[in-house]
Amino acid sequence: MPRFLSSQPDSRLIPLPWSTPLEEWPTDLLVALPRGISRHVVRFIRVGDEVYAAKEVIEHLAVHEYRLLHDLRRLGAHSVEPVAVVSGRLTRDGTQLDPILITRHLSFSLPYRSLFHSGVRQDTVMRLLDALVVLLAQLHLLGFLWGDVSLSNVLFRRDADSFAAWLVDAETGELHDKLTDGQRLHDLTIARTNLFGEFLDLEAGGLLDSSLDPLTLVDTIEARYNELWSELTGVEEFSGGEIHRIEGRVRRLNALGFDVAELEVSTDTSGEQIRIQPKVVDPGHHSRRLLRLTGLDAEENQARRMLNDLDTYRARNNLGWVDEAVVAHQWLTECYEPTVRRIPDELRGKRDNAQFFHEVLDHRWYQSQAFNREVPLWEAADSYIRDFLTALPDEAVTQASMVQVTQQGMTPVNPYDPSKGYVEATDEIPIFDPWEQDAEEIDVAAASVLDINSLRAKARPQE
Ligand SMILES: Nc1ncnc2c1ncn2[C@@H]1O[C@H](COP(=O)(O)OP(=O)(O)OP(=O)(O)O)[C@@H](O)[C@H]1O
Ligand SMILES: [Mg+2]
Repeated sequence: MPRFLSSQPDSRLIPLPWSTPLEEWPTDLLVALPRGISRHVVRFIRVGDEVYAAKEVIEHLAVHEYRLLHDLRRLGAHSVEPVAVVSGRLTRDGTQLDPILITRHLSFSLPYRSLFHSGVRQDTVMRLLDALVVLLAQLHLLGFLWGDVSLSNVLFRRDADSFAAWLVDAETGELHDKLTDGQRLHDLTIARTNLFGEFLDLEAGGLLDSSLDPLTLVDTIEARYNELWSELTGVEEFSGGEIHRIEGRVRRLNALGFDVAELEVSTDTSGEQIRIQPKVVDPGHHSRRLLRLTGLDAEENQARRMLNDLDTYRARNNLGWVDEAVVAHQWLTECYEPTVRRIPDELRGKRDNAQFFHEVLDHRWYQSQAFNREVPLWEAADSYIRDFLTALPDEAVTQASMVQVTQQGMTPVNPYDPSKGYVEATDEIPIFDPWEQDAEEIDVAAASVLDINSLRAKARPQE
């Protein structure tokens, strides 16, 4: 009899064929979705309307990963949600099978290989790297030593014009009270080695733009991580006349998406020199504020965009004197909800609501410029749906997204297991992504979330 370790058991899991090795499970229980390369047998299984990821792995690792993922979720980290460990599996002839770790499939998540499949632009790669760097710094702030940082162990979700990275594989991780510099360096070294290999792999497969050099890419990761880490934790010293720099530091951290829970401020005996150092910083500054005001759960940059739209709405309707929570409710019912309600049911698998709203805001801006008039939201939403959304590939788990996972005209030997490699496909599905197209017009230097100078410039007018 298999044993289930779970904090929220899903009874629909019980009748599954646990006495069969995962590799031999009948395909009617499986879903073919894009995923990263893995050493273990990993399959996506469908149970009612839920999709779970199942990984066959030795007992102590399964339990260790289950518990660690639990702790990470409790600490508010971006990691997949553990559902159960099924152990004590025996085949009919009594052979022992390794346990299976089950996690909830992260909706609208994209493994990096599916982001590289259409030949990716340089600034898209930079945004992916930025997302990975932010995740790594967030995990390090929590005291999590990852031990196996790689693109395959991360999932990406669209987050306005950038990406948010989520940890998917915690097998080698350790949770400490606080990491030493040496431990952080250890993770960075592993990140360098793994990512260098992954980029070489992409290069060999013709999936990396020729302008991108694997070595430069890994150097960039290290530089951006160090830049972010010193902004999050570094000491700043200035004279008593520059007291506004305390406020400035907090604003810059907010602009990076972090709240400052504790800032240590000390002065020398004469009171002329001030020294500040953030001691506790929490990610999710904008998404927490949006959740508090509207109840909407969005990624950080999506939330930032919606809060900006909320401010514009407030100014446009002369509501400056009205309580923020009241305006937020009005914006929700007059702007956000009517816009996302316009998505036809059959297109709901293309984008999640928050990302759709962001893309409509962008589209409205372009249209207003082109037509030289203020295009209303509903009109922008309808034309965005008609002209773009319909042509986008599905990114949620829907019937349509399961058809074929193709990659540059190649189709997988086994659609349930990308590690088995690809063969030449006959029909290539053309993929058009307006987000990618617009990327060409974006000034990369100004758009970089981790470019501290541009963030400082952004924060300056408010100081
Ligand atoms: N909950 C999930 N939601 C979405 N995708 C998932 C989930 N769990 C696993 N995956 C996909 O499956 C892939 C393999 O999972 P995972 O990294 O845990 O396997 P692994 O065998 O431990 O890998 P490694 O070779 O790094 O040890 C991931 O890269 C990811 O694409
Ligand atoms: Mg992995």
